[in-house]
Amino acid sequence: MPHERSAAFAPGRVNLIGEHTDYNEGLALPFAIFQGVSARAHAVPGPRRRVQAWARDLDERDEFGLEDPARAQGWRAFVRGAAAELQAAGYPLVPAHLELAGDVPRGAGLSSSAAFEVAVCLALVELGAEGEPGAWLTPADRIALAHVCARVENEWVGAQTGLLDQLASLCAEADHALLIDFRTLALERIPLALEGWRLVVVDSGERHSHASSGYNERRRECAEACRLLHIGSLRDAEPGSLGALPEQLRRRAQHVLSENRRVLDAVSALRAHDLPGLAELLNESHASLRDCYEVSTAAVERTVAELREHGAAGARLMGGGFGGSVLALLPGTVALPQRALEVQPGPGARLLDG
Ligand code: GLA
Repeated sequence: MPHERSAAFAPGRVNLIGEHTDYNEGLALPFAIFQGVSARAHAVPGPRRRVQAWARDLDERDEFGLEDPARAQGWRAFVRGAAAELQAAGYPLVPAHLELAGDVPRGAGLSSSAAFEVAVCLALVELGAEGEPGAWLTPADRIALAHVCARVENEWVGAQTGLLDQLASLCAEADHALLIDFRTLALERIPLALEGWRLVVVDSGERHSHASSGYNERRRECAEACRLLHIGSLRDAEPGSLGALPEQLRRRAQHVLSENRRVLDAVSALRAHDLPGLAELLNESHASLRDCYEVSTAAVERTVAELREHGAAGARLMGGGFGGSVLALLPGTVALPQRALEVQPGPGARLLDG
């Protein structure tokens, strides 16, 4: 028997370092935050195979048929896409009423959309699942769901994003960052002890949408660099071979190669309790994202400069760029800047008692 009720919580994420590496089979080091999206579902018995959804924060509603959800815009695209892609992946769904609410700032680079997709998917799958509550949710299922959620972004929302946000939301664990190798999808927990230092995010005030920003264009540029280098992904690029690329593509590839190295250096810095070293890597990542990958904006630069003036030892744009949030690492002696949201490594997505 499927369940009568289900509930799930999925967190947003902060990416400590490793930006624009996921779709290049590279490395990243995100962690889940305590802010997230919760989804509560109950089964709606009867012959009509429909889903009704209520986005509580917006007080907006949607209703669609499970068999063939039609395309939609905004948050509705995520819910309909999740229902369609879950069924295409073989998860049995049942007619449902779904209530959604969250506290991740939207469009600010904290992966509100991944949190939304993951919460919807967990609640819908649990509702349609047989057996003990949550029994189906194995580590392998978490990775499978990350792929489903990425397809929702790619096919239903039009953003060609990689797997970073979804894997972070689904697989991260409290007090740890998650070292992800996007070539093998190997995941390694790295203790994230800040030893009195603080991580904060500050919204640049500039909204971004991956579907309409230069994000998809960056992906195309990386694919073009691979084509010219005759390699399958930038993970295979030798630093010495980049000279064969036109100047702009060379800078894009340089960012990806150097960022992969910085992720490994950040893991070493954390293991050595070297917070100043970690801060320096954040600064180097930002310089590379600004100069080589060219995804910063004037508003982001102002925010980074303000944070450094305030006393941040490291600050960098976070997520896809073109606006969104800045991540900063503050020594314990520095007060919280205005508008800053302190972030800590929380647990990954989970089912709640319905
Ligand atoms: C966004 C995307 C991710 C990733 C980052 C950049 O957050 O959703 O897949 O590509 O940008 O690192």
